Amino acid sequence: MNRPTVHVLGCGRATRSVLRWLFENDQIDIGQVCNRSLDSAAEAVEFMGAGQPVEVLDHEITGGWLLLGLPDGQLDGLARGLACRMPGQPELAFHLSGSTPAAVLEPLGTPIASIHPVRAFSDPARAVAQMSATWFVAEGAPETCAQLEPVFTRAGGRWLTLGSGDKALYHAATVVASNYLVTLTQLARTLATQAGLESESAAELLGHLQATTLAGLEASSPAQALTGPIERGDLAACSRLVKAVDQANPDAGRLFRNLALATLDLAMEKRGPKPTDQPLRQLLSPPDP
Ligand SMILES: NC(=O)c1ccc[n+]([C@@H]2O[C@H](COP(=O)([O-])OP(=O)(O)OC[C@H]3O[C@@H](n4cnc5c(N)ncnc54)[C@H](OP(=O)(O)O)[C@@H]3O)[C@@H](O)[C@H]2O)c1
Repeated sequence: MNRPTVHVLGCGRATRSVLRWLFENDQIDIGQVCNRSLDSAAEAVEFMGAGQPVEVLDHEITGGWLLLGLPDGQLDGLARGLACRMPGQPELAFHLSGSTPAAVLEPLGTPIASIHPVRAFSDPARAVAQMSATWFVAEGAPETCAQLEPVFTRAGGRWLTLGSGDKALYHAATVVASNYLVTLTQLARTLATQAGLESESAAELLGHLQATTLAGLEASSPAQALTGPIERGDLAACSRLVKAVDQANPDAGRLFRNLALATLDLAMEKRGPKPTDQPLRQLLSPPDP
């Protein structure tokens, strides 16, 4: 089996992690690596253990695969710019964005796809170690996706194909699931330390609570997994919570109430209406202007 050689324009956190993982699993060779600076390209090559840092891509990218690992805001402009001075003809080109359609690469005049790794890459070394079973969501030309799929799945990734029309909404879903979870974790830790817990203990106990909740969600729907004072319709406990948050952290009050209202809807879906739901909704709704 011939391994494809992947050349790279933009080899930052996500790209160097994915490529090192594919390389270590014998699925690809890594060719030319171009960043804004040669130093940064050399650093990426050192991290991946393969590749050749270059100042500009040259004709030897012909016949290889081209990965544009640029920040999303630059994909469109650089793909257009590269199209005018494409140094060679790659067999296919792809990017890793979850929000930008593959079509942004059309100016390159080569078969295109986007492969979104559904995970965060804030720490590339850790990401590589945890990459197995990561989902990769493909969008673009069906034949190009089909060409890329075995490389990712043989390395141990999981594969899903998405119609391009749903991309922005799909990306919103991943932002809620991942980024907002981080924001909520920060809020929970702040409230716990304001309540008097040491920050390390707060992080540990809340982290364990979150892990068990997420594990529960693997086995049941969100409505089934929901517990707590809102689900029980405990108006007195909810009044104490809202008052405590308003007093300790007024900035968090609006977010807390909005999430509580969404949680009330979920609770009603689970257990049907309760007489306390209406006063609870009143308690949680923002006052009339
Ligand atoms: N980060 C994540 O958690 C994550 C998750 C899933 C998907 N993605 C996707 O992965 C893609 C890359 O994101 P990232 O977070 O890896 O970005 P990043 O860490 O900011 O890296 C971007 C890289 O692009 C290079 N670059 C920027 N402008 C360039 C130019 N004009 N010419 C050549 N190279 C240039 C930078 O080079 P220098 O080092 O020289 O500045 C840098 O190495 C995006 O499409 C993103 O949506 C990211």
